[in-house]
Amino acid sequence: MTRRVLVTGGAGFIGSHTAERFLADGWAVDIVDNLATGKRENLPAGATFHELDITGPGAAELVSRTRPDVLVHLAAQMDVRKSVADPVFDAGTNIVGSLRLLEAVRHDSPATRVLFASTGGVIYGDQTTPPNAEEFAKNPDSPYAIAKLSVELYLAYYARIHGLDTVALRFGNVYGPRQDPHGEAGVVAIFCGRILDGQPLTIFGDGRQTRDYVFVSDVVDAVMRASTGTLPAAALVDTRAYNIGTGVGTPVLRIAEILKRAAGSNVPLEFAPHRPGEQQESFVDVTKAARELAWRPVVSLEDGLSRSYEWFAARHAAARPAGAR
Ligand SMILES: NC(=O)c1ccc[n+]([C@@H]2O[C@H](COP(=O)([O-])OP(=O)(O)OC[C@H]3O[C@@H](n4cnc5c(N)ncnc54)[C@H](O)[C@@H]3O)[C@@H](O)[C@H]2O)c1
Repeated sequence: MTRRVLVTGGAGFIGSHTAERFLADGWAVDIVDNLATGKRENLPAGATFHELDITGPGAAELVSRTRPDVLVHLAAQMDVRKSVADPVFDAGTNIVGSLRLLEAVRHDSPATRVLFASTGGVIYGDQTTPPNAEEFAKNPDSPYAIAKLSVELYLAYYARIHGLDTVALRFGNVYGPRQDPHGEAGVVAIFCGRILDGQPLTIFGDGRQTRDYVFVSDVVDAVMRASTGTLPAAALVDTRAYNIGTGVGTPVLRIAEILKRAAGSNVPLEFAPHRPGEQQESFVDVTKAARELAWRPVVSLEDGLSRSYEWFAARHAAARPAGAR
């Protein structure tokens, strides 16, 4: 029988790649997205698109009606700065929207495996010494990260008390074609755009701050494995949580250097003051995902960044008026 997946946020960056992969593997794919940041052009052919907001009743009703084998919940307000400016809006989408879906699963589709997109980039805060392992203390420094941790607590509660099959994937800084400059790995999209416009690359602070950059196809592979694998019983908040990154902290200066090389560009670097509240070091321990999901990232930073740059360059060329090409 054809397996069915519902991907929320499927018109977005990670969601559209995820939906493509499920389709390629022969699944029936429903996509829910309100197109807040997602784009119709990202929707893969073969998926059924439902233009719905996860905070309204329609998305939950769809879960109740279609009873998918897997719900990959990626829809979110994913701009950390926006969450600081408007934490009420952030919580409405990221906590209450998630709860609505979980309630539909509890009442009408309890066999659905629920996969939630959490964050390994900002959930641990700045109090730990990376690489951060799943059980490390979490001291989130933004409403966005607090919302992600809150949903993880709900996932563990629904698993323990209601027997739901829930998984949290804590993504590092995901980059690749179609990524949005406002996301956690937005710097890759921003630098590509600046290089293509011949503008300097702005580095905040000394540029030695590290992040765990993971290519989108590796993330999608982790989603696939977590959707279908046999996992330990969900018990505590960290039991079914998996860091999905590379295990390597890369300084932003290095990202600039690799992208400039990939583009054959000599745009200058421009240094600006360190941004208050910005984490200095952030990267995750990925040994648990290797052990329990049999997952490992396979795309090197050089390869992933040059594939990303090529995509942005092609989009840039297509957007220019014909005479200017
Ligand atoms: N990109 C990263 O580096 C990264 C890192 C950690 C976690 N995540 C998480 O992964 C998920 C996907 O992120 P992304 O980078 O693909 O971002 P994205 O903005 O491209 O995707 C999010 C999608 O959700 C949709 N959406 C937003 N609010 C909605 C609502 N109320 N109802 C329905 N749809 C709504 C948007 O239109 C968009 O298509 C998010 O949950 C994000 O928090 C991303």
